[in-house]
Amino acid sequence: DGGGQDARNLRVKLVLLGDSGVGKSCIVLRFVRGQFDATSKVTVGASFLSQTIALQDSTTVKFEIWDTAGQERYAALAPLYYRGAAVAVIVYDITSPESFSKAQYWVKELQKHGSPDIVMALVGNKADLQEKREVAVQDGTEYAEKNGMFFIETSAKTADNINELFEVRLVFTF
Ligand code: GTP
Ligand code: MG
Repeated sequence: DGGGQDARNLRVKLVLLGDSGVGKSCIVLRFVRGQFDATSKVTVGASFLSQTIALQDSTTVKFEIWDTAGQERYAALAPLYYRGAAVAVIVYDITSPESFSKAQYWVKELQKHGSPDIVMALVGNKADLQEKREVAVQDGTEYAEKNGMFFIETSAKTADNINELFEVRLVFTF
């Protein structure tokens, strides 16, 4: 409970993983700057951003966010970013079953090699593209439930559920 202090400043190392093009960088940009980039470029290596959230009781939570590159050629770098992470946000694109398979690969990789107490969130992004949906909500829900993670669908484009993900779901796991 903060050991009697009336204010706490928490730091949370967070890593985003998932196939190239699922919208990881757009999710971070939406959360940190409130913007959307329809011409977002592929991430090279990884990029780092941080965002501090103030809670009602004057606690602050600083998210230190590693946005990894989803392209296959960067896969070997991932452990550098998920090692020591308190939170892993694993993202797929609801219009892409391949990206859902890739998300499951990352879950397994983290179960094997991530910190044992890492909090994992499964995120189905591009929820604005309902007419192109190829991964059912239930598929995400069931997979997350089986693997002890929480699940949410987001849209970086419309901002739907982005604040819910970071400022409600993730913040209260600490
Ligand atoms: P890598 O950096 O290669 O791993 O890709 P990424 O996961 O960071 O993807 P990025 O955020 O760059 O987005 C890829 C493309 O998807 C871009 O054209 C975005 O504009 C688009 N995009 C991202 N999020 C959404 C969304 O919620 N809805 C829609 N319709 N498009 C999105
Ligand atoms: Mg990116």
